Amino acid sequence: MPEHDVLIIGAGLAGQRAALAAAQAGASVAIVSKVHPVRSHSVAAAGGINAAISVEDDWRSHAYDTVKGSDYLGDQDAIEIMCSEAPGEVMHLEHIGVTFHRNEEGRLDLRAFGGASLKRTAYVADITGQAILHVLYEQLMKRHERVARLEEWFVTSLLLDDSGACAGVVARDVRSGRLEALIARNVILASGGAGQVYHPTTNALIVTGDGIAQAYRAGAPLMDMEMVQYHPTTLVENGLLITEGARGEGAILLNSEGERFMERYAPNKLDLASRDVVSRAEQTEILEGRGAGADKAGIYLDITKVPRKRTLEALREIVNIGRDFAGVDITREPILIRPGQHYIMGGVKTDSNGATPLQGLYAAGEVACVSVHGGNRLGANSLLDTLVFGRRAGEHAAARAQSMPMPEPSTSSRLADEARAIDEIIARPRGGGRRVSEIKAELGQTMNEHVAVYRDQQGLQRALEVVGRLKEESRKAYIDDRGTIFNQDVLGAIELSYMLDCAEATVVAALERKESRGAQFRTDFPARDDERWLEHITITAGPDGPRLGRAPVTITQWQPEERKY
Ligand code: FUM
Repeated sequence: MPEHDVLIIGAGLAGQRAALAAAQAGASVAIVSKVHPVRSHSVAAAGGINAAISVEDDWRSHAYDTVKGSDYLGDQDAIEIMCSEAPGEVMHLEHIGVTFHRNEEGRLDLRAFGGASLKRTAYVADITGQAILHVLYEQLMKRHERVARLEEWFVTSLLLDDSGACAGVVARDVRSGRLEALIARNVILASGGAGQVYHPTTNALIVTGDGIAQAYRAGAPLMDMEMVQYHPTTLVENGLLITEGARGEGAILLNSEGERFMERYAPNKLDLASRDVVSRAEQTEILEGRGAGADKAGIYLDITKVPRKRTLEALREIVNIGRDFAGVDITREPILIRPGQHYIMGGVKTDSNGATPLQGLYAAGEVACVSVHGGNRLGANSLLDTLVFGRRAGEHAAARAQSMPMPEPSTSSRLADEARAIDEIIARPRGGGRRVSEIKAELGQTMNEHVAVYRDQQGLQRALEVVGRLKEESRKAYIDDRGTIFNQDVLGAIELSYMLDCAEATVVAALERKESRGAQFRTDFPARDDERWLEHITITAGPDGPRLGRAPVTITQWQPEERKY
């Protein structure tokens, strides 16, 4: 039975950075990924990574912008760590071979991004995540003697030992269908967010909340789950991301009347206000009838303001997306966008070393809630979060491994239970319930209708009812593939159960927070209420469903004030 000091679930940027750090600290490491690592969703991160590396900048300014962006819900001690360690992390990437864009003096170039006081986003055209992911993967391959890679292995649950500590996972080899217990002194979840709970979303099909649900089921608390980010510029046709880098390079937003409406909502930062502010402004324009396009459901993003040569060089991926998915040459005409689900600020509650309250379990990246993003994440802070907290989790887990024996969880009955559960899914009669894909589609539409940019009690209550019904229906949902080899159908059924747990936690927390802060705008409670709600909402799994709790927000140097952009 394979045993490791540190077992990492997920091979996107957080997972790979954690693996490298743990291996460098001398740990034996395994990294498990349900897809090939370079297909992890980090590959889709576009516009860049924030770090205060210019001479005019200071990490404290970055930290202040992040605190303000979070609508004061972010924990300031963790934000200070992230922002002060950012320059070192970007330099490390540069030294291991990431080809960041350079300016005419040969220094790393920086572009403007939303909510930032000055240009501080390092980038590789609009494929920054892809560029970093490939370089980290090369580094991992170089360390193959210390880092075992289990590519296309799907984790079905966390393993706990008799003391209740996390002691490994049960995973299925997707190629063969074989189940195995993987034992470890520490497990780091780095499995990403839960964007597929929504439809449409900018997130890849693999982003199904697996780690969040697995940790929750094992007893770890979730935090800030109500905070779901809608990105201001996603394609009207299908929700594909059009990078914020476009606005950073000078593109502007216009309504159907040709008005630069952000002048009314954010007179200073305009199109580069924080994402929650811009998305709400766009949605208001659409709701008030000033939307553009056939059914007035879009907003124009005018990228023709950016010199064509610069667009072709620095925004080349969205040139392709515009042409291939909307039939628009973005260098010559505006493209129709709208706010679309992009990111979840919430996740498994961790400290600033990635440790969760469940012994032996760590989390880093979008699966985790440190909380550095609070109510709203700034663009280009997510790559930074994955790298800083991935590294810290890897280092901390490696150090912890030195002082403890290898756990000995009982695995045979667990393996038998998991095998039975999979057999039961495969054996469900066709037509005995709904298809997994139908349930998933209804979930996505419901969340996008009721748990979106604007929310209220009635809509949230309705969403909760639908999620409850879909949970029931998912227990009978049938699949077509009855085989063992690459049976993605059976994985889809398990992923659906993860998504439903995440959706339920999101709706319950959104119902609980009776105020408007960051990405949670309650039309029935439109003001921010620091007296009652300057607190995190936590959720743990109880015998009858989600249990709500509160956790304090850590304030170090920035007292809450009204947010103006
Ligand atoms: O718009 C973007 O390029 C997205 C970046 C991010 O979410 O950090």
